[in-house]
Amino acid sequence: MSIWRVKPVSAFESDAKKSELKRVLTKWGLTSLGIGAIIGGGIFTLTGIAAREFAGPALAVSFIIAGIGCLFASLCYAEFASVLPVEGSAYAYAYGTIGEIFAWFIGWNLVLEYMMGATTVAVAWSGYFTKLLHLFHLDIPIWLCNDLATAKEKCAEMGLDAPSFAFNLPAFLITWIITAILVKGIKEAAKTNNAIVILKVGAVLFVIFAGMFYVNAENWSPFIPEPTKVISEDGAEKIKYGWNGVITAATIVFFAYIGFDAVSTQAGEAINPRKDVPFAIVASLLICTALYIAVSLVLTGMVKYDKLDKAAPVASAFAGVGIDWAVFIVTIAATAGLMSVMLVMMLGQTRIFLGMAKDGLLPHNIFGKIHPEFKTPYISTILVGFVISLVAAFTPIEKISEMCSMGTLLAFSMVCVAVMILRKNKPELERPYKTPAVYLVGTLGALFNVFLMTRTRPETKFFFICWSILGILVYFLYSKHHSKLNQPSSENPS
Ligand code: ALA
Repeated sequence: MSIWRVKPVSAFESDAKKSELKRVLTKWGLTSLGIGAIIGGGIFTLTGIAAREFAGPALAVSFIIAGIGCLFASLCYAEFASVLPVEGSAYAYAYGTIGEIFAWFIGWNLVLEYMMGATTVAVAWSGYFTKLLHLFHLDIPIWLCNDLATAKEKCAEMGLDAPSFAFNLPAFLITWIITAILVKGIKEAAKTNNAIVILKVGAVLFVIFAGMFYVNAENWSPFIPEPTKVISEDGAEKIKYGWNGVITAATIVFFAYIGFDAVSTQAGEAINPRKDVPFAIVASLLICTALYIAVSLVLTGMVKYDKLDKAAPVASAFAGVGIDWAVFIVTIAATAGLMSVMLVMMLGQTRIFLGMAKDGLLPHNIFGKIHPEFKTPYISTILVGFVISLVAAFTPIEKISEMCSMGTLLAFSMVCVAVMILRKNKPELERPYKTPAVYLVGTLGALFNVFLMTRTRPETKFFFICWSILGILVYFLYSKHHSKLNQPSSENPS
């Protein structure tokens, strides 16, 4: 009856045996999925805000800082994936090691990662889609493709009257389109995923190699601009630039790395999950880190940091140096590429809900109900789409992405702790991949990610605390009693 009860490894194994998923993914197929989930709104959109408002040309340093925390976490994820090749990601790892309440708490915070992640990408997509329409001389009114705060800011920049209402229609609509695809089943979408990944990586390589010729080294100076105090619209004081700014930017661009852990949710479809999933987790992260550092150097070299566009900085950088055909290529690749990230994020969310519902921690008739014809968890998918579409329509991107990062940072820190506990408590388990220097890497990973959590805005922390309290209430009022492990006769919860 304890809140610390642990789901036995044998139960995971028997769950895996019951799975009807086809094992088709190779190690490079998994790596491609990882890259597909990683490259998205972070690099195509948030780089603009992070460099312009906080890091300046030192954006590359912010990427390195955020990348280090992710590397530690990825090494820990990799060991887990080799021991427990199951779909629930960090939630399942915690359930198999530390205990139910811990697992619940991670699952609850993965909602922030996946749901707010998809929301951020919906808003980023809206920025690129609006840009694409603009290339065809079609313009949506500012109040109909932004949230209110962003619309006001844009109108002020353009010398227009501030609107009193705003609604991000493209972000709202794309969410419902992805929701419809997911309800119908993703077989068709999965086929195009590889093509989209190639297009997306091609666009990033293009930005690096074409943009390189337009770098003006003067734009990199000063590399870390002098710290400046500013008063934001809501009256709060914030420090732009300086080392403080570089770290704040690291918490923003951390978002760009999220997704390598999504590889672990594909364990059920991997041919050789114990070896290939750990490989793909680390490989996709390392490849993207190298690409990100290069893109951020090129971008801040092409355009002075304080002139970077907030909605579509990468495409706009090419417009700034006068190569319009490149704007076209980048905008199309980003628009398509962001859709694939949304797909993976929303899919990941419904799978985690499904896993939690199977374990009894969430109501099965909502989160576990499968459509008789499409065989998808349709109620949960529609619910997720509903929440995302509304939040995306009314909230500025930086606020949503920070909530997403907060939840993810917590999941990463907990995985770093959990891997050390598993080593100590269950040294006998077979581990095809072992985290090197596990106690050092685990401790540094946990500390690093918690440190980044402390550097988020006060309002993000406040939201996070409220979210956590709500999660604990739901656990004690519902999940604890309905848990499959609460039924003494059920040895194997599934
Ligand atoms: N890393 C993903 C992105 O940047 C979530 O969109």
